[in-house]
Amino acid sequence: MKTIDLSIKIGFCQLDELSEQDQKLINSAIAATANSYSPYSHFAVGAALLLADGTEVRGANQENAAFPSGLCAERSAIFAAQSVHPDKAITTIAIAAKNGYGFTQDPIVPCGSCRQVILEMEDRYKQPIRILLYGTDGIYVINSIKDILPLQFVANSMK
Ligand code: THU
Repeated sequence: MKTIDLSIKIGFCQLDELSEQDQKLINSAIAATANSYSPYSHFAVGAALLLADGTEVRGANQENAAFPSGLCAERSAIFAAQSVHPDKAITTIAIAAKNGYGFTQDPIVPCGSCRQVILEMEDRYKQPIRILLYGTDGIYVINSIKDILPLQFVANSMK
């Protein structure tokens, strides 16, 4: 049996190394954590999307006493954007999260379900989505969800 190497490269930088537009989007994700409804986990996640025409859409995690009925910040933002702007591709997504002590030191990373939904958006609009993951120690800059979701399942996988 041979081994297939699926190694990836992602960026890591400080906020002031990013463009003004990226910094603004990260600050929007940070601000969006204020709209989190997370009385169960006390983990407030914010997401901010940039659409192709410059429109910004925010989302925050929304929890429920019946746990599976809640939704992550990323999918809240994506589904909100899709519901109102189905004609506009998503170009960048920024995510930030805070716990009881403040914003996470390590960058917050999207869960598996959110990765799959971001992949669907790349597949729908046929273009990659840049992903900016905020942590107080630094920011991960990822050029496509495919970098953190290897071996993707998309519509074509069913052919
Ligand atoms: N959460 C997100 O909103 N995004 C992520 O990427 C990871 C987890 C939420 C779901 C739940 O409300 C809380 O964080 C704890 O898992």
